Amino acid sequence: MDTDATIRSLREALTASPDNLPLRRLLADTLFAYGHYPEAEAELLLCLKRAPKDEAIALQLARTYRAQGKGSACAVVLEQLVDRGSHRARVELARHLLSEGNAEAAARHYRTALAADASLRDAELSERLGVDLQRAGDPDDAVVDGRERALDGDGPGDDLNLLPVRSDVKFVHVGGLAQLKDEIRKKIVLPMQRPDLYKAYGKKTGGGILMYGPPGCGKTFLAKATAGEVDAKFLSIGIHDVLDMWIGKSERNLHAVFATARKHKPCVLFFDEVDALGASRNDMKHSAGKQTINQFLAELDGIGNDNDGLLVLAATNAPWHMDSAFRRPGRFDRVIFVPPPDEPARADILRLLLAGKPQDAIDTLAIAKKTDRFSGADLKALVDRAIEAKLDDAMASGVPEPLRTKDLLAAAKLQKATTNEWFATAKNYVLYANDAGLYDDLKAYLKL
Ligand SMILES: Nc1ncnc2c1ncn2[C@@H]1O[C@H](COP(=O)(O)OP(=O)(O)O)[C@@H](O)[C@H]1O
Ligand SMILES: [Mg+2]
Repeated sequence: MDTDATIRSLREALTASPDNLPLRRLLADTLFAYGHYPEAEAELLLCLKRAPKDEAIALQLARTYRAQGKGSACAVVLEQLVDRGSHRARVELARHLLSEGNAEAAARHYRTALAADASLRDAELSERLGVDLQRAGDPDDAVVDGRERALDGDGPGDDLNLLPVRSDVKFVHVGGLAQLKDEIRKKIVLPMQRPDLYKAYGKKTGGGILMYGPPGCGKTFLAKATAGEVDAKFLSIGIHDVLDMWIGKSERNLHAVFATARKHKPCVLFFDEVDALGASRNDMKHSAGKQTINQFLAELDGIGNDNDGLLVLAATNAPWHMDSAFRRPGRFDRVIFVPPPDEPARADILRLLLAGKPQDAIDTLAIAKKTDRFSGADLKALVDRAIEAKLDDAMASGVPEPLRTKDLLAAAKLQKATTNEWFATAKNYVLYANDAGLYDDLKAYLKL
């Protein structure tokens, strides 16, 4: 039989029994052997769906990525396997690092793997890396798994603050935004609380929500409240902190972020300024923009990995700078406009901001009426300003007075709404770049 006939008959057999995992694996290996890498990749991904913990399949997927020059995807799969304790993957990772010219890291991984399992010795790698069995057994040289990162001052995520926190805010602390809360409840909170119901109806959970809107209107705050609502850990990452001028470092940082979040499941992983991934490719200090994006997408898709219990939210002030690849199903398939609070929401937010402060029958609605287009952050600034004025008075008179409505109204006169500038820019995108209907809710808000 020639190649094509072999592949065809394997495919036919699979159509008859699509659940036959060994058969699909065979097809994948055959495709790989004959150099049909993208097809092999597709079959392996299907295999992994059925057997997400299968080391051999994941390893073969890594090789398939490498064969296609998808270096970062290859590294992601291998590093995840290494994290799960696979020494075999560590050898493969060493091979990959060596092919990328990183002999030092390659040797380190290879030595660690050999120290754990001497049978993994590979003549070619030993020779090229100058590592032999004797040295591998030397305790001075063997790097103890897990301690490696601490020893290596330039490891992934070293400069990042990767400490998930418990969130003490909940939806009740967020003023307004009823529709958005509802959306998050449907997509994130309920699937978390009743995964059985979602499974019963064959509905896939997962996929993230991308929030956009003017600064200071509660995107970050709401993300944190989501974590509090489902009693999950909260890990907030500014994309600018992940990006690094060293080639490959951004990808490793991203991987470290996701790996940390997976370790702390259930976890709300929040990416702020996420547009920086695609946006400022020009002003980025290196040209790894595309690779970094691919890495991010691979992590989001959870290639060779389980993203269950991992909730991903992201925020941007500039959604128009984002690659459309982010919006595919299973990724950020909901893009939601976070508007400045309307009048009742402003009254709500003021009430929340004033809670616990000395006050006297404050008419929050009256202040809400005078603060059109104010963001939540603007309202916060307004309250701070009023309090400072009060403090000045108290210092002079020696008598502390409670805050009154007129104090806040006076502060409102001095405080400016900061959302106008954003809307001036956004309007142009709604008018001239809304083909996909992406900004329809913003369009409705602006009554265009
Ligand atoms: N809807 C809201 N309810 C309560 N407080 C809010 C709201 N929106 C903004 N704030 C206040 O303003 C601050 C800044 O908001 P933030 O979430 O950082 O805005 P964004 O991420 O949209 O730029 C918050 O920490 C919070 O104190
Ligand atoms: Mg924010």
